Amino acid sequence: MHFHQSLFLLVATASSALGEFSPLWTFDGTNEHKVKLVNDPVMGGQSSSDYTVNDEQVRLEWDGEVKIVPSLSAPGFCNLETSKMFLDKFPDASGSTHLTLLVKTDTPDYQGFKVSFAADTINPQFKCYKADFVIDENTPVDEETGYSIVRIPYNEFSNNWSSYTGEPIVKCSDDASVCPTEKSKKKIQQLGLWAEGAAGVFNLDLLGFYFETIEESEPAVASNANVNVADSDLLALWTFDGDNDHDIKLTNDPVMGGQSNSNYTVTDDNFVEWNGDCKIVPSLSAPGFCNLESKKNFDKFPDASGATHLSMLLKSSTPDYKGFKVSFAANTLNPQFKSFKADFFLNDGVLDEDTGFTKVSVPFEEFSNNWSSYTGEPIVKCSDDASVCPTEKDKQKIQQLGLWAEGVEGEFNLEILGIYAETVTSTDAAEVVKESICTVQKDLLFKITESSADVGLPNGTADESLAQAVCCDTQFTNYPEPRNFYVDHQLFLRLDKDGVNTFYDSACGIPVMKAPIGRTFEEFKEDTSEHGWPSFRGEEIIEENITVGDDGLTIFSKCGTKLGTYETDDSGTRACLDLVCISGQEE
Ligand SMILES: *[C@@H]1O[C@H](CO)[C@@H](O)[C@H](O)[C@H]1NC(C)=O
Ligand SMILES: *[C@@H]1O[C@H](CO)[C@@H](O)[C@H](O)[C@H]1NC(C)=O
Ligand SMILES: *[C@@H]1O[C@H](CO)[C@@H](O)[C@H](O)[C@H]1NC(C)=O
Ligand SMILES: *[C@@H]1O[C@H](CO)[C@@H](O)[C@H](O)[C@H]1NC(C)=O
Ligand SMILES: *[C@@H]1O[C@H](CO)[C@@H](O)[C@H](O)[C@H]1NC(C)=O
Repeated sequence: MHFHQSLFLLVATASSALGEFSPLWTFDGTNEHKVKLVNDPVMGGQSSSDYTVNDEQVRLEWDGEVKIVPSLSAPGFCNLETSKMFLDKFPDASGSTHLTLLVKTDTPDYQGFKVSFAADTINPQFKCYKADFVIDENTPVDEETGYSIVRIPYNEFSNNWSSYTGEPIVKCSDDASVCPTEKSKKKIQQLGLWAEGAAGVFNLDLLGFYFETIEESEPAVASNANVNVADSDLLALWTFDGDNDHDIKLTNDPVMGGQSNSNYTVTDDNFVEWNGDCKIVPSLSAPGFCNLESKKNFDKFPDASGATHLSMLLKSSTPDYKGFKVSFAANTLNPQFKSFKADFFLNDGVLDEDTGFTKVSVPFEEFSNNWSSYTGEPIVKCSDDASVCPTEKDKQKIQQLGLWAEGVEGEFNLEILGIYAETVTSTDAAEVVKESICTVQKDLLFKITESSADVGLPNGTADESLAQAVCCDTQFTNYPEPRNFYVDHQLFLRLDKDGVNTFYDSACGIPVMKAPIGRTFEEFKEDTSEHGWPSFRGEEIIEENITVGDDGLTIFSKCGTKLGTYETDDSGTRACLDLVCISGQEE
């Protein structure tokens, strides 16, 4: 497909270190949304604009003129945006660093271009995040497509801007409360372009909106002579080489007559060796703890916001000891008991080739700040109650870091090179959790076999087919194929207009849907086109061959293949299915 090829080339040819690039809104049928134009609707404004989507359906051209609003004696605006304010869904852009446009202009001198996205707001029109952009000689050009790459870091967006000029009243750099959060990047509900606050004729030729992850070259990481941590996605929080040093405090079972004991040394090679023995506290008949932490309760550490994992470079002669925990305190007056804590296991680590240490990475969502002071184990887990999870603000303001041997009796040994904030790229994460419940057929109908999971699925990779990912990979349980995917595959041209078409499970080949039944072919087509996914109702659903998941919504075939979801609307219940999962050959 033209569009994906160009993306890959873009990644390959752009000069700076480009991260992952995924489409949010394009015009080729894969990430399509209806367009709405708003030209100075109030105050007697006279701005005007219009757009066309070109014949090959890959780009949108927008032309207009922003004029002075007479009643305000100030320039008005033209706005082109996705038409729905709430009900639209865009891919999860959390973890990305930039909102990126592939765009050209005939009016590079026009000074009023802005881009916006709304998320998590009931007032998308005025509370969207907005940022200026310019296209000039410094803007990199993608060689393959000839389009300029306009990259806007999220911290240039603000959701507090003047409704007269579109310019920020409060900038994100001055007040974090107006900045987009990871949660807002995850739940984008509307995207828009603006010509605003500057009078003049303008033109934009847009290939699409994307989100992009660009890995920054990190500030010095463990830069000591003996051990070189080359991994640039690790941000050193605490090391023992003088760069990120903090004094150490040891606490060994201070109360209740506990008898645990430990001690540490800082070696010449700039790591800490910590040895100890976690013993039963007689008065409790339960194991006590040893704790090695940064000494000050209110210390400063680098900003770890945006990171996905807290990682450690460790060695241990007791890798089977089951009581290791790591903690960080943030934004609390009670760091001892309200720190965020998580278990870790040496055996889950991977060898870091550069240092010879084992890298153990703990996802931030495994931390909780509600844990038992007897065992150190969570009482309430972050996965069950978000109020105990670390927030981006907490990750930004870490005040204390600690390691624990707790709740498990036994001798332990740790060599600690450092504690780091790590941003694991999404492909790594995909590899970790991928799990298949079925295997799709080799030759699916409608040329489905050719589409790979990186077509529109967050974290989807080119080495997994879209069908395998959507229908069989539990990692994507909540993800459908891209909206209007069926259009690209010319579904309705390939069906029998005059008969009843049977659709077979893409994995096991049993019949699961028949259409049209009780309505015309055109009605079946319109229902599908209105929703963007093949839609079946009533008798069309072969109920004896499907089952519904525990959520009461997800539809599986009798063989276990995920097919889609039940939705309800004015006309009743609709099975909203993924074409990729019902394109099997009859078996
Ligand atoms: C923007 O910030 C100003 C100053 O803090 C505040 O008075 C105003 O209410 C904010 N506006 C919006 C729309 O949040
Ligand atoms: C250090 O801790 C170990 C293990 O508890 C103990 O055997 C050793 O005596 C301690 N050494 C010192 C100097 O306290
Ligand atoms: C932990 O959660 C429990 C149950 O919600 C609550 O009763 C308790 O107060 C919480 N403890 C802390 C330290 O937050
Ligand atoms: C994609 O990767 C991110 C970062 O690791 C993760 O939080 C998210 O859950 C992943 N999404 C899917 C669909 O696996
Ligand atoms: C359901 O699937 C079975 C194969 O498992 C098939 O024999 C049967 O005809 C299907 N039911 C209908 C109504 O098509």
